[in-house]
Amino acid sequence: MTNVSRRRLLASGGAAAAAGATFPLWTWAPSASIAGTGDGLDPEYVWDVRADPVIERLYGEGLDRVAEVNEILKGWTTNDQPVPAGLPGYLEDFIEEARRLPAWADQGKLKLAGTFNEEEYGFFLALLYTLGSGLISCAIKREAWAVYYSYGGANMRERIAKTTVLGYDVMDAQGWTATGRLMVDSVKTRMVHAAVRHLLPQSPHWSSVGAGQKVPISQADILVTFHSLGTWVMKKFTEWDIAPSKELADAFLHAWNVDLHLLGVQEQYLPKDWEAAYAQYDQVMGPATGGTREGVELAQALLDAVIGEGNPLLRHELESLGRYVIGDRYADMIAFDKDPVLAPVWANAVPLLVRSYQSTVPDIPLVSNLLPEAVHTFIKIYFSPGDPAPITLPLSNRPE
Ligand code: HEM
Repeated sequence: MTNVSRRRLLASGGAAAAAGATFPLWTWAPSASIAGTGDGLDPEYVWDVRADPVIERLYGEGLDRVAEVNEILKGWTTNDQPVPAGLPGYLEDFIEEARRLPAWADQGKLKLAGTFNEEEYGFFLALLYTLGSGLISCAIKREAWAVYYSYGGANMRERIAKTTVLGYDVMDAQGWTATGRLMVDSVKTRMVHAAVRHLLPQSPHWSSVGAGQKVPISQADILVTFHSLGTWVMKKFTEWDIAPSKELADAFLHAWNVDLHLLGVQEQYLPKDWEAAYAQYDQVMGPATGGTREGVELAQALLDAVIGEGNPLLRHELESLGRYVIGDRYADMIAFDKDPVLAPVWANAVPLLVRSYQSTVPDIPLVSNLLPEAVHTFIKIYFSPGDPAPITLPLSNRPE
């Protein structure tokens, strides 16, 4: 793991940011949700009432049993595959229930959402998820703490890349087909999150950062991560003047909502339209974000993983591009370099790049050449983290 300099840490405000997130009063109404109704409980105090007891029970049978379950589930990969034999009955029942799409899932919309990754949007989605959401995730305090102190924190590249890749696959038509993997991966992720809720409170490190909660990954936390991916990206598309048609934008949100359902989020919290999504974003994002030592380290570890530990010039270049993409507020939280010379270069080059992708006029230079080759490499490596390791239940927290 990178040794983050004192200067960088102080710049993030991380040294002083030990206080956990305090969420203001929850005012987002269930009438704005897909369910249209609900008890309106603050999702800050709601976890996964169905998955958590099941996973708790599994860990109660011992880590050997958990490892055995991991082994059995390795062979379960595609949406159409039956759940493999040999699992404890209560776990099999849970998976059978959890893998089902909700009644409101609309295959037409999922298919349409799948066109999003094609052509121009595919590039921008990849760019914004990697140099945008991936970095913002380090500025989400609870996510940074949970990821850092859980088992996967020791292997950053794989860890962050997996969340982003799952987010990217939500917009991949293939993901939802019989031979796709999205439904299986989402149910496995739901189980991993429940496992983290079981394991992380046992970590003295996590407990001592004072995350403001006794059990991690509440429903509110999952909504924050969704907004840092889907909603933030849609806002950026609008800001860059490349917003998709209403129909496509609605399909994008629909696909996310179906996936959030598979991740165990209750329907009373799923925004029924973009207006509701933006209102929820405004409610949860601000208090959830801030500078932490762990987040600063994770962001550096992410760069290490992609461009190697040396390479200070390239790192500086990527940090300043990242700063342009996520904006100063988030960039300060993860203490990314500021460069008064490069900042205007990105401010000119990126909009040109955006226009060149949209334009049918051939003489606009394809300014993607203006982006350092490293950006293309960055995205490529990010999305191909070697042999895709299966999603497995962690057997411990981050090794000391
Ligand atoms: C694990 C995606 C929300 C913390 C994972 C994995 C995926 C994923 C794909 C499995 C990685 C693997 O181990 O193979 C997502 C998505 C989210 C979300 C799509 C929301 C839309 C959150 C939130 C937190 C969190 C809100 C914490 C506040 C973790 C942790 C692990 C994990 C700690 C396990 C890491 C490990 O020990 O290996 N998540 N996640 N996730 N997630 Fe999430």
